[in-house]
Parts: sequence; structure tokens; C-alpha cells
Amino acid sequence: MPAPRLLAPRLATRRWAPTCRSNVLPLSSHCARPAPSRSQQRNKSTGSPDGSTSSADTSSSLGGRGSAKTKTPPVDSKQVFAAGQAQSSAPMGSGQRMDPMTGEVIGMDDIDASALQIIESDSPKDLPPSSSLVFGHTFTDHMLVIPWNSESGWSPPVIKQYGNLSLDPSSTVFHYGPCLFEGMKAYKDSQGRVRIFRPDKNMERMNRSASRLAFPNFTGDTLIELIKRLVSLDRRWVPAEKGHSLYIRPTMIGTQAALGVGACADILLFVICSPVGPYYKTGFKPVSLLATNNYVRAWPGGTGGYKLGSNYASGVVPQAQAAALGYQQILWLFGDDDQVTEVGTMNLFMAFDKGNGVTELVTPPLDDIILPGVTRDSILALARAHADPETSFKISSLPDKLEVSERKVTMAEIKSAASEGKLLEIFGSGTAAIVSPVERIGSFVPSLVTCTLADSVRCRYNGQSINVPVGADGLGDIARSMLTEVVGRQTGEIPSDWSVVVD
Ligand SMILES: Cc1ncc(COP(=O)(O)O)c(C=O)c1O
Repeated sequence: MPAPRLLAPRLATRRWAPTCRSNVLPLSSHCARPAPSRSQQRNKSTGSPDGSTSSADTSSSLGGRGSAKTKTPPVDSKQVFAAGQAQSSAPMGSGQRMDPMTGEVIGMDDIDASALQIIESDSPKDLPPSSSLVFGHTFTDHMLVIPWNSESGWSPPVIKQYGNLSLDPSSTVFHYGPCLFEGMKAYKDSQGRVRIFRPDKNMERMNRSASRLAFPNFTGDTLIELIKRLVSLDRRWVPAEKGHSLYIRPTMIGTQAALGVGACADILLFVICSPVGPYYKTGFKPVSLLATNNYVRAWPGGTGGYKLGSNYASGVVPQAQAAALGYQQILWLFGDDDQVTEVGTMNLFMAFDKGNGVTELVTPPLDDIILPGVTRDSILALARAHADPETSFKISSLPDKLEVSERKVTMAEIKSAASEGKLLEIFGSGTAAIVSPVERIGSFVPSLVTCTLADSVRCRYNGQSINVPVGADGLGDIARSMLTEVVGRQTGEIPSDWSVVVD
């Protein structure tokens, strides 16, 4: 293979530190700043102890059909839990880390986008036909890597040829699982421009996950700028066909070459990209869910509200069992009252007829057991803006009288609503499918379960099915509206500040 071409100097010498430009990302919450180190917190006389930004007005994000007054919630106060620990040796002010003995600059406290090196691949791959794409199996020519070390801080970012990582077998990630990731998408609009959807929300969540793992934080805008450089370099990989996109996977892993549980002294942040086709290749197919309280995805004080790799491995066996019983997804229950929480790896929405023409759109509240999905947040913002009598923003396909709630819902409530004809629809929401309609909820029939855990199978709804209405196209009315509204903003068809142009 020919030697890769080094394109470093042009970028290495040019400083283009990203700023919070209001025309790009107008929400104040998008500036996912690094959490302050302990020394910074001590020196701060005013402001919130978690360094969170205040709530932000999302009105301009919803696009051309009027204004909204929805507020974005402040960053979780747990954000700073570990970052101070990880960066406690950071000097104040300059953002540079000095060698305490020599005074030499040895690294940065924050990612330094101006130090980016691009080493362009000399062996670009052939583009596969878009129709052949299988989710997560094809990767672009380049990747972004940014190592971090507890002494020297962030190393200069490098975009280089996509390829294997070389890690010591003792690396922490292989033993104790310190790994977090994000999932976001880039779309080609009708003018051929590439757009990313609400990357600020992914950066905010990534920093929260990082704090939960005692990983360092970083400025969200800086990583967004670097991701834009990566996507721009690989722009030929962004499929233009309807429903296609480039899936972007920012990841952080603990790479310290030493056994022992503790905060990792070495971390690798990397970003890879994968062209993907539509989630539903041949129209929407509503799914059936296996409601389970035999396994628990997340619990109070746990990590279900963070996007950690360790949350997902344990879902494979339940998912396989659901598939063996003829269900497409797990409906994760929690607690003695069987609260519904999430569906597979998606957030959950339900719609109930409340009488007098009022429809309630409900999703479980954000707490430790619910992942704060970007799609969930977008659906809530759109629905709330529509429901707010003080705004002119209206989505014509949504019910006039819409109530939007974040509250607990139990299986008993769903069951009784279904029996009274008041269950209108259920759908999952997530970056992959945007919406995933549900047509049936079933549960374990103990005698059918042949897994090793058969003896411990317990379910209060043994074998009973709850049927959920869906339209002729496989979608419920609210899911269909939200699909149109969210996809419209992702692809730039509906003007919105949620959509960030890459180039
Ligand atoms: C557990 C879980 N819940 C919900 C979601 C949906 O989140 P988003 O809308 O940000 O894709 C995901 C996907 O990332 C997930 O893994």
C-alpha cells in the first residue's frame, strides 16, 4: 500500500478555534463546555456549581411555521462528577498543560482544533452501491483520533486513513469496559450540501457519559468542528438517495495499559463514519414487543441514562429470546408496578385518548433509567410547540387538543387503556429509525421459554397480548407526523437551526 500523504502543515499552522456562532447553532445549551476541574470550581465565585448553561429558547429551531417557547433543560448536575478528578492537575487559564519540572507545554486541557493534522488516505475505497448497504458494515476512508492522557491532556487531533487501532491487551477497555459512544447522522440535501442534525445534543450527552466514566470533558463545538472536517473530507460517502445517510459514531475508550479498576490515565476519542440505507427498506413495518421484567435494562443510580457501551452487551440475550418468541424488540419494564421505560434501544412514546377530544402524548420522564434521546427531545419540542396556545406554530397533522407529558406509565395503565379503546398508538424513537411503530405487546409464557433462566421467568401478563392500533401504512397518526417533521428538518426540507450545514 502506498504511503499516506501528509497534509498537516496547512491546518497545523492555522488557528480556527470554533465559536458559538448564532447562525449555526443558536441554542445556548449547544456549547457543551468541559466541566470545570476542581481547582476551577474552587476559584469560581459565582455561577452554578455544575457549570451548566441556563435553559435555552428553541423557537428558531423548529423552523418556518411559527415560533415556539420550548425550553431546553439544563445539563444534568452530575456532569461534573468525575471531570474534576480527571483534570485536577490542569493549570488555569491558558488551556495548556506544562511539565511541572521544565515548564514546557506538554498538552492541552481541551481539544485544540487548530492543531488538527489531516493525513489523507492514498488508497480511497470504491463506493458500494447504496442499495447494498447493511447498517454499520461499511466504513468511509478516514477516521478522527484524539488521544488524552492524565498528565499531558489532549493530544492534537488527527484525521487519518480508517484502519485498525493498536492496543495493549491489558488496555482497560478490554477488561472493565470503560467505553462510551454517540450516534448521529449526516444527510445530503436537495442542493447537495451535507447537513448534521443537532450535533450539540450529542456532544452534551457525550460529555455527560464521559463524566460518568471519569473520562475528560471537552468543548462540544470543537469536536463538532472536527467532525465536520472529517465528514467534509469523506463527503463522497454521504449517500444522496432518499432515506440514506452517513452514520457518525464518536466513541471514547479507556486505553491505559494496566490492569486494575480506576479512573483511566489514557483515553482514546475516535470518530468513524458509515454510510447507511433506510431503516425500513420496504415501508414501515410495525413491531411487536416482548414486555419483560425478567431482565432490567437500567435502574436508579445505574448508568441507563448514559450512552455507555456496557449498557448494551447485556441486552443481547433478552433480545435474542424475544426474537425466538417471535417479537422484534424488548419492552423494558422497571419496578414492582411494571413501569414501561424504553423499547429495545429507543425511547418510548404512547398516545392516549383522554376524552373531550384531548389526546395525551406521553413519554417516561428522564432520570437515571431513560437515555436522553435526541429524537425524543426533538419530538417533545415539536409537540410542545404545537400544543402551546401562545405560539402560532402548528403541525396540521397533529390533534388540535394535544397534551404532552413526561410521566411514568405502567403496563396496567396501557392494558386498561387498550381494553377501553383509549390506547391510540405507541412508537419508539431514535436516530436509526426516527420512529418505530408498535402493533402488539406480548409477554413471556413461561412454558415456552427454553432459556437457562426459564425457572426464574416471572411476568404478571403471562402470554397476554395488548394490541395497539396502527394506520394502513403501518404508522400511527402522531408517529407519521413526527417522522415528517423530524426528517424534514434533518434533510433541510424544513428550514431549521437544528440542521447544521457541514460544507
Ligand atoms: C437505550 C437508547 N435509548 C434511546 C435511544 C435514542 O436516542 P437518539 O434519539 O439520540 O438516537 C438510543 C439510541 O441512541 C438508545 O441506545
